[in-house]
Amino acid sequence: VYDTLLVFRPYRQMVEEVSRRSPADVDGPVLDAGCGTGNVTMHLARRCSTVVGLDAAGAMLERARSKVPAATFTAGDLNDPLPYPDGYFAAVTCSNVLYSLRDPAAALAEVFRILRPGGTLALSNPRPGFSMWSVLSEHWKAGSVTERARLLLAVPGMLLLISFNLFLLSPQKDVPSHRMDAEELRKLITAAGFELTELSHCYAAQGCLVRARRPGEVASC
Ligand SMILES: C[S@@+](CC[C@H](N)C(=O)[O-])C[C@H]1O[C@@H](n2cnc3c(N)ncnc32)[C@H](O)[C@@H]1O
Repeated sequence: VYDTLLVFRPYRQMVEEVSRRSPADVDGPVLDAGCGTGNVTMHLARRCSTVVGLDAAGAMLERARSKVPAATFTAGDLNDPLPYPDGYFAAVTCSNVLYSLRDPAAALAEVFRILRPGGTLALSNPRPGFSMWSVLSEHWKAGSVTERARLLLAVPGMLLLISFNLFLLSPQKDVPSHRMDAEELRKLITAAGFELTELSHCYAAQGCLVRARRPGEVASC
C-alpha cells in the first residue's frame, strides 16, 4: 500500500532529489536510514556499490529486499544507538523519517557519529501543516494524461493509505510528529555538528530538503 505514493510525481521527485544529493560512486558504504520500501535505496544502488537500508518495520524491509536485490537490508531502530562504528558510512540518506522519531536531535547525533568526516547527509522531512491535497494537486497540474489516469486507478490504494494514517496512526497520541519548517531544521542539523550546504523545499513544497556534511577531510571517491 505504501508504494501507492510512487504514483505521485512530487513523491517520485522527492525520492530522486534526496538520492541525488548523496554523492555517486562514493568509496565506502552508504546508509538509507528509515529506508521503508526502498525507493531512495533503489536510486542509491544504481550509483553506489555498497548500499545498506535500515528500517524498523519488517514488512517494509521485506518489500525493499524484493525491489532492490543489490542492497543489503537490516532491521534497526533509529531511536536507539546504531550498530555501526564511528565514521563507518561515506554518506547517509534519511527521507521522511525524522518527523516520526522520538528524539530527532539524538537520532541526528547518531547519524553524525556513524558518518565519516567529509561525509554527506541528504534528508527530507515534512513541514508543519503538511497537506496531501497539495501533493495531489501538483501531480494533477504537472502530470501527463497517463500520469493523471494512473492517479485515478490508484484511488483505492490511496484511500487505504489515508485510512491507515487517519484511523490507525493519528489516534495513537504517543506517536511523535516532528514536522519542521526550514529554520527549525537548520537549527537542529547545525546543533548536531553538521555543516549545512543546502536547504530548500521539496514534495510539492510540503517538505524540506537538506544536504549537509560532517566537517572534516572529504571522503575519497
Ligand atoms: C514515511 S516512511 C519513509 C520511507 C522512505 N524513506 C521513503 O522516503 O519512501 C517512514 C519510514 O521510517 C521508518 N521508521 C519510523 N520510525 C523508525 C525508527 N525508529 N527506526 C527505524 N525506522 C523507522 C518506518 O518504518 C517507515 O518505513
